[in-house]
Amino acid sequence: MIDIEEAKKLDRQDPLAKFRERFLNRDHEIYLDGNSLGKLPLAAIPVLEETISNQWGKQLIRSWNKNWLELPKRLSRKYCELLNADEGELVFGESTSVRIYQIIFALLESNIYPKKILTDALNFPTDLYVLHGLAKHFSIPDVQVIHYDQEIEANLDRLKDAIRKSPGIVCLSLVTYKSSYLYPIKELNHWAAAHKSIIIWDLSHAVGALEIDFKTTETLVALGCTYKYMNGGPGSPAFLYVHKKLQDNLQNPIQGWFGHQHPFAFETKYKAAKGLERFNNGTPPILSMQATETGIDLILEAGIKMLREKSVLQSEFLINLVKNELRPLNFELQSPEDILFRGSHLTLSHKAAWQICQALIKGDGDSPKIIPDYRPPHFIRLGIAPLYTRFEDLWRTVYQLKKIVISESYLNYSAQKENVT
Ligand SMILES: Cc1ncc(COP(=O)(O)O)c(C=O)c1O
Repeated sequence: MIDIEEAKKLDRQDPLAKFRERFLNRDHEIYLDGNSLGKLPLAAIPVLEETISNQWGKQLIRSWNKNWLELPKRLSRKYCELLNADEGELVFGESTSVRIYQIIFALLESNIYPKKILTDALNFPTDLYVLHGLAKHFSIPDVQVIHYDQEIEANLDRLKDAIRKSPGIVCLSLVTYKSSYLYPIKELNHWAAAHKSIIIWDLSHAVGALEIDFKTTETLVALGCTYKYMNGGPGSPAFLYVHKKLQDNLQNPIQGWFGHQHPFAFETKYKAAKGLERFNNGTPPILSMQATETGIDLILEAGIKMLREKSVLQSEFLINLVKNELRPLNFELQSPEDILFRGSHLTLSHKAAWQICQALIKGDGDSPKIIPDYRPPHFIRLGIAPLYTRFEDLWRTVYQLKKIVISESYLNYSAQKENVT
């Protein structure tokens, strides 16, 4: 195995290394689960303290006008900057699941596209569940779920063929949660447009780790959660982007007062707000939104281009270690090898993945605790969050995986699984 000094040298050369200090890091712990829940930005602590003690504690209702009503709009503008959207093309709030429901409901009702729903087996379960519910509601015979021969990559010919034969509303995760497969977004948007279809992109595993440009990729609708690489905190709200040319034809199925033209006029009749503001529903979760802002601020400050460059370097570094050190120990790489088709996490499989993860988390005398992400039945995801992951962390993880398997120390752990993995 290469010397750890190689990894430390790369950390010293890393232009983004200083951002790590802006997060709460624990001694003797390596966190590789930023692709599920990002670390706590230190700046979120005083922001939340001020919000709770002063704005909520003392200013109470006055804080709505002074601080809070503007907050979702400010977050929207920051996400527009990150994703290259125009102001007014993005709203902030709700969960990704709610956003998928709202926008696909609106598209189905609008009749702009044929009433068909397509997705693929690589998509995240919540997307599939919501799509099935929508199909039932709109009496669409079924959601067409495209299956591939394996779970690592999409077969683009099969996907395109399905869209051509059955045009409609397609929902895909830009980076898939299992393997980190990255779809060619622009190529597929073109294909969809040429075949009377639209793709709804779920960016949950992509935003904050990849450069995404809605204009150059001609993206029409996208959404995603902000608690992974965006470091927005547990349950931080999602965003919804809709290209301005579509907005006037879409109505929010949830006619809540925050989507009304004049919410504080308390009119009895619903009048949808102009543009995408009508997709707001109820009172925004202010505590969560305040914390979330520190996450997007850090990403904008570091710059998404530099973050992607670092993530690419780190994932190549990790892949080389996996190939040389872990493949001989029966680990398999379950992510695309070509960086053009890969996001920012790497997935490994091993028949004892669950027990190996428990051994990693526990650590041992001279090794730190390492927090990976387990996915059933036998996958270990290693998330690279370029704001705080170090090359040294990746080296130590591979070193420890080797040690656990060679010594068979994983056999000391139960095969019984926990709830949140
Ligand atoms: C691709 C994808 N979509 C949606 C979600 C969940 O969305 P939410 O809990 O915000 O509804 C996740 C969560 O991990 C995800 O990975």
